[in-house]
Amino acid sequence: MRTKQLLNEGWQFHLGAIEEPMKTVRKAAAIGGLTAPLTNEEGEVVLTGAGGEHFLRLIAQGERDKGLEILAGTKLTGSIAEKWTMVDLPHDWKNELLYVNEPALLMSGSKPDGIGYYRKTFTLDEEQVADKQVFIHFMGVMRMASVWLNGVFLGDHYSGYSDFSFDITELVRYGEEGTNVLLVKVDTTTGAEGWWYEGAGIYKEVFLEFLPEIRIDRLETFIETTAITEHQAQLKITLGVTNQSFIDQRNLRVRASVVGQTEGFDFTLEALTTTDFTYSQTVSEPKLWSVQSPHLYTAEIQLLLENQVVDIYRQTFGIRTIDYTTTGFYLNGQRTELRGVCEHQDFGGVGVALNKDILRYKLLKMKEMGVNAYRSAHHFASKELLELCDELGMIVMNENRILESSEWRVAELEKMVKQTRNHPSVCFWSLCNEEVIGNTPLADRIARRLTAVLRKATTQSLIVSAELLNPEGVVNESYMSNFDIKGVNYPEAGVNGTGLIAVKEKHPKYAYLSTESASYFSTRGKYKDAGENCQTSNFGSLYSMVLPGERKRGEPGVGGTAYPEEVMQFLEKYPFMGGVFLWTFMDYYGEPAPFSWPGISSQFGITDTVGFEKDYFYYYQSKWSATPMIHVMPHWNIEGLILTEDGRTEVRVFSNCPEVELFINEKSYGKKQAGKEYTTWQVPFEAGCLKAVGYAANQRVEDFRITSGRIADVTINERYSGEKYRLFEINGVDRAGNFVPTAESEVVVSVSGGTIIGLANGNPADLSGYNIQEKCLFSGKLMVIVQEDEGIEPELSTWLKVSDNK
Ligand code: GAL
Repeated sequence: MRTKQLLNEGWQFHLGAIEEPMKTVRKAAAIGGLTAPLTNEEGEVVLTGAGGEHFLRLIAQGERDKGLEILAGTKLTGSIAEKWTMVDLPHDWKNELLYVNEPALLMSGSKPDGIGYYRKTFTLDEEQVADKQVFIHFMGVMRMASVWLNGVFLGDHYSGYSDFSFDITELVRYGEEGTNVLLVKVDTTTGAEGWWYEGAGIYKEVFLEFLPEIRIDRLETFIETTAITEHQAQLKITLGVTNQSFIDQRNLRVRASVVGQTEGFDFTLEALTTTDFTYSQTVSEPKLWSVQSPHLYTAEIQLLLENQVVDIYRQTFGIRTIDYTTTGFYLNGQRTELRGVCEHQDFGGVGVALNKDILRYKLLKMKEMGVNAYRSAHHFASKELLELCDELGMIVMNENRILESSEWRVAELEKMVKQTRNHPSVCFWSLCNEEVIGNTPLADRIARRLTAVLRKATTQSLIVSAELLNPEGVVNESYMSNFDIKGVNYPEAGVNGTGLIAVKEKHPKYAYLSTESASYFSTRGKYKDAGENCQTSNFGSLYSMVLPGERKRGEPGVGGTAYPEEVMQFLEKYPFMGGVFLWTFMDYYGEPAPFSWPGISSQFGITDTVGFEKDYFYYYQSKWSATPMIHVMPHWNIEGLILTEDGRTEVRVFSNCPEVELFINEKSYGKKQAGKEYTTWQVPFEAGCLKAVGYAANQRVEDFRITSGRIADVTINERYSGEKYRLFEINGVDRAGNFVPTAESEVVVSVSGGTIIGLANGNPADLSGYNIQEKCLFSGKLMVIVQEDEGIEPELSTWLKVSDNK
C-alpha cells in the first residue's frame, strides 16, 4: 500500500556559497563530498573531484583505510555542526536576515538574495521500499533548487511556486546499504519571480512517498460534475492506472466506490504504461459543494491484482456547477457575488514559512469579514491552501505565474492543473496578471497555447486573465477570445482612464470580472499620515499611488488607487462585474508603496501582516455580513488624532444596523439612520469613553474606545490555536487594564512547552528584524507565533522592557 514519510525535521543548513558540488561525474554515484555521508556520519565516504577518484582507486586496491586517512586531512571532515546550523521545515532564511537600505531590494522586502544549502540524512528499512516506487516530494522551494542524493545529481527546479518531485526508486539506500544523504542547493540570486517578498529556502514540506509499482495514477484520476438538475447530479469519472513494474500485468481490476456506487473494470496492462477508464454516474439528491455548505465526498479507488488489493487511493471531490455570464457568477445555478480578496503567501514574523495552521487562521479571518473568494496572486495556490478552501467553502482563483509558453512552463501548468482539478474550490484559473505584452498578437499566441492546455486538463474551472485595459478601450479581440471571462484590474479607479466602460460599450457581450481592486493604503491604529514613519491614516490617506504628490480627499486615486467606498459603489453600479477581488486582505512584506525605505511591508491590507484588523475590515464586514455588527473609529487617546481649531475630531462608525447612536461619556450625540457607507460625526474630544450603539430588529450591538493612561503592563490572549501553532496576541494596557492604542514599548517574551518561531507587530517600517525574544508593540499590539511541543500546553510569559507610555 502507499505510505509517506515526512522529512521536515533535522536539516543541516548553511547560508552562503560553498564549494559547488558537481552536477556531472565520470563514475556513477561518485559526486561525493557533501552529497555523500561524511566521516562522522554512518555509511560510505566519497570525496569530490580528483580526490574522489583517488579515493575510489584506493578502495578498489583494497586500501580503504589509507583513503580515510586522506579524507581526514580535508576540510569536509570537521564537525558539521561548526559550519552548519540545524533547522526544521518550513524554513525561510530571508525572514531571519537584517533589512538593508538598498533601493533595488525595496520591492522584495529589503533583504539580500543569496545561496543556501540544506543537507539531510535518513535511513530506510527494506520493507519500506520492497516492490515500491520511491519518490521525494518538495512542496515548495524558493527559488532555484538543485538536488543531489547519494552522490547523484537528481535535477534542477526553477520556480518557487510549484511543487516538484524526483523518482529515486533505484538510487535510495535501504537496510544494510546505509545512510541516505540529500543535498539541496537553493539560490535566489538568479532573478526574482515576482515584485513582492518571496522568501528563500525550503519553505514547505518535504516527504518521501512509497507507491505500489502498479497503482492508481493520481494525476490521471478526475471526478467531474457534468450537470446538476433538481434532484440529481451527473458525474464523469476517470480512473487512471499505471504499471511501473517491468512486467506486463494480467488479471488487474480497478474498482471505484463513488457516492455509494461501485464500478469495476478488468484489464491487462503492459509494463511501463498508463491507461484510464471513464464512466458516468448519476447521483440522486447530491449534497452540493457551496460557500455556505462546502460538502466534500471521498471516492475510494482500489486496484486488485489476481484478486488481491495492491493499492487503495482516496480522492476528495465536490459536486458543483459553475457558470459566468454577462450578469456575473453562478455557483450551482445561484448568482453568487464574488466578495474576493487577493493574497500573497507570507505572514508577519515567519516570512513564507507557514504551515496549514496559519493558512487556516488567515482564511477564517477572511470569512469573518464576509469574504467568499480568494485570488492566489500571482502564482499557483499551494496544496494546503486548496485543501482548506475546499473545506471552508472559499472559492479560489488559482493563478498561473506568468504568460510564457516555454516548454517547461507549459509542462508545469499542465501538471499544476491536473493536480488541482479535483478541488471544488478552484472555480477559476487566471492565466496571467497585468502582462505588458497583454492584448498583442504575441500574447494571443501564448494564451492560445496555455488555455488549450488548461481546457484539455479541466472542465471544472473558468478561465480569466487580469488585465489593465487600454484607456481608449482598444483590445486585441483575438487575445480576449481566449478567456471565458474578461478580467479587469482596478476598473473602479479609472487607473487607465475610462478603459472598462469604453471596452464594455464596444463589446457588450463579453462577461467581465473585477480581478483586482482598491489597493487602499492604511496603517493599523493610525489616524494621521506620517510619511517619515511610513504611516497612512485610516480616515483616508493623502498619499496616492496613481497620481504624483499629495492629493486631496475626493480626488481620483487618493489613498492608493481608490477608497473602499468607491470600490463598493462601483460594484453596486456595475453588477455585471460579478464582484471584486480586493488588493489585498493582509499587508505583505515588500512593495511598501507609497513609501520607500524604511518601509518594509505593503499597506494595502485590510489587516496588518499578522491579521490584526484595520478599521476598514469592519467597513467590508458591514457590507458583507448579515450578523448585526458595529465598529467605531478612531481610538480615543488624544495623541495621534487630528483636531480642528475648536477641538473637534471625526468619529466614523461602520455598522449594518439601520440605526446608530454615538455617546461620549454616556452623553448622546444623536441617533441617526446609518449612512450608506458609514456614519460620521464631528465631536469635541473629551477623554473617557467613546461608544457607538447599533440598533437592529430586537438586537442592540455596541463598540467602544476608552482613553487610556500610560502603559503599565501587557495582557496575553490566545488568538488562535491550530494543530501545531498557536497565535498569541499581546496588548499593552494601563494600570486600570485599559488597552493603550498608542503603546510602542518593547516587550520581552518567553514560552514554556513550545518554541517561539516568530514575533511581529504589523508596523510597516519595523526595521528591528528577526528576534524571537523581544519586539516593540505597534499601536498597542504584538503577535507571538508559537510552535507547541507535542502534547504540552504552551505557556507564554512576558515583561515590559520600557514602560514609557509611548
Ligand atoms: C497591481 C499588481 C499587484 C500590486 C498592486 C499594488 O497592479 O497586480 O501585484 O503590485 O498593483 O497596487
